[in-house]
Amino acid sequence: MSLELSAPPQSEPACADDGVWLECIDCGEQFAPFEEIHYTCADCDGLLEVRYADPPTFEAFEGSGVWRYNAALPFKRGVTLPEGDTPLHEVPRLREEIGVDSLRVKHEGMNPTGAFKDRGMTVGVAVAKELGVGRLACASTGNTSAALAAYGARGDMETLVLLPKGKVAAGKIAQASLHDARILEVDGNFDSCLDIVQELAGRGEVYLLNSLNPFRLEGQKTIGFEILEEHYEDYGEYPDRIVLPVGNAGNTAALYKAFRELVASGALEESEVPTLTGVQAEGAAPMVEAVRNNRDEIQRWDDVETRATAIRIGNPVNAPKALPGIYNTGGTAVAVSDDEITAAQRQLAEAGVGVEPASAASVAGLRKLRASGEISADESVVCLTTGHLLKDPDEAFKAGGDPEPVPNDTDAVLEHINDSNETVARRVAQQFSKVADSSAVPAIIGGGLGLAYLGYRALRSDDA
Ligand code: F0G
Repeated sequence: MSLELSAPPQSEPACADDGVWLECIDCGEQFAPFEEIHYTCADCDGLLEVRYADPPTFEAFEGSGVWRYNAALPFKRGVTLPEGDTPLHEVPRLREEIGVDSLRVKHEGMNPTGAFKDRGMTVGVAVAKELGVGRLACASTGNTSAALAAYGARGDMETLVLLPKGKVAAGKIAQASLHDARILEVDGNFDSCLDIVQELAGRGEVYLLNSLNPFRLEGQKTIGFEILEEHYEDYGEYPDRIVLPVGNAGNTAALYKAFRELVASGALEESEVPTLTGVQAEGAAPMVEAVRNNRDEIQRWDDVETRATAIRIGNPVNAPKALPGIYNTGGTAVAVSDDEITAAQRQLAEAGVGVEPASAASVAGLRKLRASGEISADESVVCLTTGHLLKDPDEAFKAGGDPEPVPNDTDAVLEHINDSNETVARRVAQQFSKVADSSAVPAIIGGGLGLAYLGYRALRSDDA
């Protein structure tokens, strides 16, 4: 099975273990999955994929969460908290305002540690146990470290995480710390952390659980299975498009792999495969650059910056797997500004869906591509939101309204509440001062007018 969408199932090589083996996506070399540790190809250093002699159909799935899909995974069960089975929210106001036929938000922030990483870790830590390794490690913009720390703790294994100093959101460090990972803060960005941890893994010091590890992506594949099943149940068809934030491009690669396996088993027609659409922050957009120039490789960005620190990545290691996913599904990629991300984060929050900035990039990207006409009005779209609001309390607080100080006295509190003129003026002013983004201004003016009307009604009721 190559990376083509139409690749047929493969016959099982001699090195396979129970129908499972590793294969290089560049040179095709095959490896036994659990005898030795391989992250990349021993021959050519290409990326590895987990391959199966018997790709699954939907009928093979039973139970709930990630392990519902164990017919498509290397094991029947793993170290679990449990994970998966996340909501596929309806967001009618957002749908109407953006202007697509249907819009659902797959909220991966509802996993046990608050991000999609748990799906990869439940499988990755199970593999680590099978291999009998000692110390688990990852480089991380935060979420991977939180998940590794929690799953390592659950699996009773030592964990080490390398984080870019000063660039990881508070909630994520708190998780890694409390779940007792050893936290090393590197004076560099995520890409430098990954370089170091890859070298440590190469020297046999640690077992690497970044998405370069092909088993991580097996767990993350289940996002694709869940979206297809849930969407089909609700609408009788699969979504036209999935829009997702891109950092290391692991999810893009994993979703594409899920679809390829379903096509190989005959469970899904090629024409039914959703179009994969990646979104990056303008300050960290090497994938977008590659796609816009129709290139097969990315060029590493050495200087990256964005408020969405989870996707502050200049060298997406899974690009060789993810770019074919975008091209072969007819997808695209788009970059959004930090202010567009914050505006989308606020709008999701208004629909009751609390996400961290990187997650909101998917909605910001959809809005941008819809406005430019690259996404049409008749499409059914699923946006992936990858992490929970509480992961990054500082950005959430900046995007939201400020608390209002009041005296310790009921009458004074009531007077404050009813002092609607002042309150309305202050809230409108606050919103304006927090968002400089022009694309958000119409929404804010709308919100301001709404508040003004509420103020007017409050005054009328005072008069009465
Ligand atoms: N969204 C969030 C919230 C993330 O934490 C990440 C990646 C992504 C999107 C990008 O996903 O790498 O599959 O393209 N976070 C990693 C980490 C890098 O270390 O937590 P991707």
